Amino acid sequence: MKEEGTAVTKILDVLQQSLKRDMTFTSGRIVGSMCTEPSRLARLLYSKYLEKNLGDPGLFPATARLEREAIASVGELLNYPQAHGSIVSGGTEANMMALWSARNGARMEKPEAIVPASAHHSFNKAADMLGIKLISIPTDERGRAQPHSVKAAITANTVMIVGIAGTTNLGSVDPIEELSEIASSNNIHLHVDASFGGFVIPFLNDLGYPTEDFDFKLSGVSSIAIDPHKMGMAPVPAGMILFRSVDMLERIDIKASYLAGGEYSKVSVLGTRPGAAAIVVWATMQMLGREGYRNIVKRCMNLTNLLYENTMKMENIRPVQEPTVNILGVRPLHESPHEVSDKLRERGWAVSTYPKYLRVCVMPHIRKRHILEFCSELKRLDQKQEPIIRPQFSKIRYTLL
Ligand SMILES: Cc1ncc(COP(=O)(O)O)c(C=O)c1O
Repeated sequence: MKEEGTAVTKILDVLQQSLKRDMTFTSGRIVGSMCTEPSRLARLLYSKYLEKNLGDPGLFPATARLEREAIASVGELLNYPQAHGSIVSGGTEANMMALWSARNGARMEKPEAIVPASAHHSFNKAADMLGIKLISIPTDERGRAQPHSVKAAITANTVMIVGIAGTTNLGSVDPIEELSEIASSNNIHLHVDASFGGFVIPFLNDLGYPTEDFDFKLSGVSSIAIDPHKMGMAPVPAGMILFRSVDMLERIDIKASYLAGGEYSKVSVLGTRPGAAAIVVWATMQMLGREGYRNIVKRCMNLTNLLYENTMKMENIRPVQEPTVNILGVRPLHESPHEVSDKLRERGWAVSTYPKYLRVCVMPHIRKRHILEFCSELKRLDQKQEPIIRPQFSKIRYTLL
């Protein structure tokens, strides 16, 4: 740190220059992220309410109330307005809190949790921190958990079964109804990771796409992670964890009596946390309503289907499977996904790369022209371009960060 401060105008200039290297959602070229462009309302409210801290809710009771209202609204969307929960930093924290609660509730000496092979790596982080052994079960050819494998993996130490509604890699939705029955009959906590799908599936249903129940409508579902900062249209950081009963939340409520605002329940892994995030989640849902979300999901699905149809016709790329939500896996037939991803990155596109395919998330910032441009780019890759001799982005990603 320098001894003397720098003039604000200078700082703004420096930032303007140095941040130019970052990609932007508005460019439409980030096609591999689950986040999206913040709305004008979000930008306005974030800066206006920056000082709110839900780590000390007694100081900001009105913000805490908006958090509760937002949770009730999402609970209603997921067929359980009485749900208890918190707005958290994202799906990672939400999944961690669910595991934490299940572990504390079950009080096993050697706790185990059953997760599908498609589970997000946040479960590995959480299990490591919480001393839980993860039992990974294989998925079927559509990337869905297989109930018979889940059943077979249950032991006397199982504290949780995880089902996923919108997997990270292909957007598949596990057969939650069957998992719910298994969980109920074995008295095990079923956690549904709907971090991505939670703000999509309820609207798909309205739009006439085939869907299956995945939420609190199923009596075996004990908790749900759902991320406002993915398809909920809120800016980062905003996740949400919902529990069916208050005691599931109370099990992980660690009191802090010293706070200036007094002792209030504030269940989260974080201490100090942004009240502006809760305000923006609340306001975004007010602004959009079900109709707004339905229209967004409709547009994203139309574009996902357009991408699917176009890639079906390509020579060197094939979709991995029909999309369930607005995520599409595409498999290069002649090159490795990393090679293709590096070439795309060279041309200004950012996709996610898996060992066997690329993942495209057709988020709300993506327009039809972006999908068409992306398809042309994929086609251009087909037609043996001049070789690109440049550093492989996949190998230098860490140094870039
Ligand atoms: C299904 C699923 N769960 C959890 C997460 C973690 O969410 P976050 O990055 O907000 O912590 C992700 C992120 O991609 C996800 O796809």
